[in-house]
Amino acid sequence: MSKPPVKVTVTGAAGQIGYALLFRIASGQMLGPDTPVTLSLLEITPALKAAEGTAMELDDCAFPLLSGIEITDNATAAFDGTSIALLVGARPRGPGMERGDLLAANGGIFKPQGQAINAGAADDIKVLVVGNPANTNSLIARSHAPDVPADRFSAMMRLDHNRALSQVAKKLGVSVADVTNMTVWGNHSATQYPDLFNARVGGRSVAEQVEQEWLESTLIPTVAKRGAAIIDARGASSAASAANAAIDHIHTWVHGTPEGDWTTAGVVSDGSYGVPEGLMSGFPVTAENGQWKIVQGLDINEFSRGRIDKSVAELVDERDAITGLGLI
Ligand code: NAD
Ligand code: LMR
Repeated sequence: MSKPPVKVTVTGAAGQIGYALLFRIASGQMLGPDTPVTLSLLEITPALKAAEGTAMELDDCAFPLLSGIEITDNATAAFDGTSIALLVGARPRGPGMERGDLLAANGGIFKPQGQAINAGAADDIKVLVVGNPANTNSLIARSHAPDVPADRFSAMMRLDHNRALSQVAKKLGVSVADVTNMTVWGNHSATQYPDLFNARVGGRSVAEQVEQEWLESTLIPTVAKRGAAIIDARGASSAASAANAAIDHIHTWVHGTPEGDWTTAGVVSDGSYGVPEGLMSGFPVTAENGQWKIVQGLDINEFSRGRIDKSVAELVDERDAITGLGLI
């Protein structure tokens, strides 16, 4: 007997990430080849027509797993009964901007969406915030959903994680599948810290296999500033790789992490590794039975400590800023 469809809500469905994401969800790449989905597309009123165009194309793909599509500009309707919420809809930054500069423009989007999730989402709701600044927007949404367990909210750090895997694989001349135990700590911003000391290739720390100079002056800035490099090259912010990371994030959350490995997700801090409780920070996480768990007991050397503290300090500043803006 086939499973009942899972309702998946995607905000910003008419945007460029939405366009790269929806077809992959409908084809089964996110929840698996035996899980039918109903898509709920949330857009602002002027973009509803474009969302309808995307829905027409989804129809034209005749995906066997796609059991229905709803399109709305009403957040309450969009999140009613939803099990997976991908909060993508927000303005992207332009050249010369940092993601934190978007807080005033985008922060206001996430309060009503948090409230709508609180009001009507399914009991098994899982929320991924993609819209920037993703960690702090996730904190805003979570703050307005007091009846939803805090660990159901997450922020996208998987793109940073995948970027780090790819750069390390190239440097060591191995496949990305050979790079394990990667973590990108902190904020999805230029202060993020990809940790090569705990990452492994061939059972050994990656940091032992590369020069410290490369780690500090090439790897960290390349990964942390990759979003800006893509905006510079493409004239638009990353879309297909962002959609891919969102698919990876939810797939891992639902299906679990492989034995012995972990991934990176922005999740609520329980105070682990000195990250103040309640912040949405990038952590090493495993997933089991649909739940993230922060990996405990990793060695954090002095270099890593300084980098993590710097990124976490920025998350604290962003939290102070949204408090000042009355968003939490
Ligand atoms: P886009 O401008 O192409 O699309 C954004 C869409 O969101 C638009 O269609 C817009 O109408 C819609 N929107 C705006 N306000 C909305 C609201 N209140 N409700 C529903 N929809 C709304 O932008 P994009 O390239 O798709 O990027 C979306 C966001 O994702 C940006 O903030 C971008 O910076 C961020 N992003 C994050 C990551 C990450 O790794 N976390 C990666 C890439 C992009
Ligand atoms: C990215 O990392 O590519 C996105 O967050 C877009 C951006 O503004 O960098």
